[in-house]
Amino acid sequence: METDYNELAKKYDLTRKENIDTINRFFENISFYEGTNILDFGCGTGNFTCALKRITNANVYGVEPADEMRQRAIDKSEDIVFKKGNHEKIPFRDNFFDFIYMTDVIHHIPDIGVMFKELNRVLKQGGSLCIVTESHKQIESRFWVKYFPTIVEVEKKRYPDIPEIIECASNNGFMISMKDVTDIDYKHVISQKFLILVENKGYSMFHLISENDYECGLADLRNDYNKQIEIEYNHGETLLWLKKSFKDFEILSVPDLLDSIS
Ligand SMILES: C[S@@+](CC[C@H](N)C(=O)[O-])C[C@H]1O[C@@H](n2cnc3c(N)ncnc32)[C@H](O)[C@@H]1O
Repeated sequence: METDYNELAKKYDLTRKENIDTINRFFENISFYEGTNILDFGCGTGNFTCALKRITNANVYGVEPADEMRQRAIDKSEDIVFKKGNHEKIPFRDNFFDFIYMTDVIHHIPDIGVMFKELNRVLKQGGSLCIVTESHKQIESRFWVKYFPTIVEVEKKRYPDIPEIIECASNNGFMISMKDVTDIDYKHVISQKFLILVENKGYSMFHLISENDYECGLADLRNDYNKQIEIEYNHGETLLWLKKSFKDFEILSVPDLLDSIS
């Protein structure tokens, strides 16, 4: 079943915002100059897009297929161009972006080979792509698996695992430059924020398990929340850093070549 982001848009910002650790990692790896073109691919309601615009001089753009998500992004900032697009069609010219990132998007893409070709087209030679996702190991380590065990298999079906992403990227004009794994490990009581997120089905995965599994898990979660039980938080994210491969450079036409080095 596909996730309906036009429906989820109504509650998305109640439970989701930009992740500052992820943004810090962008800054460790990318120089954001005035005039640098950045794309937030699958930008949703524009949380990461707006955060980057606030703290850099770069030209920041967002592409998002779901009208309701995109409209919320547009309402948040007049300085950012948000356009309708998806993995098949990104409405920008060839070799336009210096940096493209996508946070929590790849598991929604029906054909990642098509997506890599299209991202490759709009990325400048020497530009970087960062995919923020979770490995299958990280999915298994999520602390809420204790409450919602059936989520694991559902998630492993829709999330391509890291080797699959790297192989597909390298078949479609990219080479991997770095894999950054942000595993975390600490104990904490369940936060009210997380309980609210689950009560609002703020992650699309809660729409993909049976209502019975969801209700049972929510009851156990509420119980542990009320008892202030400490939970081990030990999963993080994977950031895959990719570069447009040199092979494509050789087949660029002369006008494209001049464009890519200007
Ligand atoms: C979990 S949300 C993440 C939104 C945003 N990147 C963030 O981190 O807040 C996933 C987003 O991917 C978008 N999406 C779904 N299918 C897509 C596709 N084929 N191409 C591009 N984006 C897509 C959805 O509409 C949704 O906004």
